[in-house]
Amino acid sequence: MIIDVLTLFPEMIDGGLNHSIIKRAIEQEKVKITSHNIRDYSNNKHKQVDDTPYGGGAGMVMQIQPIEDAIKDLELSENTPIVYLTPKGKTFNQAMAKEFAKEERVVFLCGHYEGVDQRVIDKHITHEVSIGDYVLTGGELPAMVMIDAIVRLLDDVLGDQESYEDESFYNGLLEYPHYTRPAEYDGMNVPDILLSGNHQKNC
Ligand code: 6GU
Repeated sequence: MIIDVLTLFPEMIDGGLNHSIIKRAIEQEKVKITSHNIRDYSNNKHKQVDDTPYGGGAGMVMQIQPIEDAIKDLELSENTPIVYLTPKGKTFNQAMAKEFAKEERVVFLCGHYEGVDQRVIDKHITHEVSIGDYVLTGGELPAMVMIDAIVRLLDDVLGDQESYEDESFYNGLLEYPHYTRPAEYDGMNVPDILLSGNHQKNC
């Protein structure tokens, strides 16, 4: 899978996803994640990427030119999803992660300030997605949340021990508390039934 992230803070994406299972997936070429700095595409001599909103109001709006040129530079095929991260979007869930995991390529556009010029959304965006009912300062963390949830679903990214396809393991993660050694810590004990050694009995 190819994932492109259009952002004003590419270091967040590069630093945030190069760990653990996602790092292994990148090394094993299950996914190629590339961040693109929107500022690099600004035609403005000061590399400006935002301006005050028409009609007034607080904050700044990200301009169409750098974003559109960044999208054009990706040379996407016609059906590639372009996801805009916005608190106004549809709330992300596991079913959406599974759908995006089927795609060959997905592009994420991270907004900042008060958002992006509506003409970017009208012309280019296929999905508007939020990760929950709270407001963050930008779309980078939500993009990273989505990428983590999607990449772990790709074929052969999780090992047997980590596999989500084993429903009992998946349900177990959600439903049961977990313990590991030591059996007693500072007077707190692992439930006896888990110490009996008969794992089947406990499932
Ligand atoms: Cl996608 N963006 C921002 N700025 N805040 C959020 C969000 C997205 N999802 C939840 N809060």
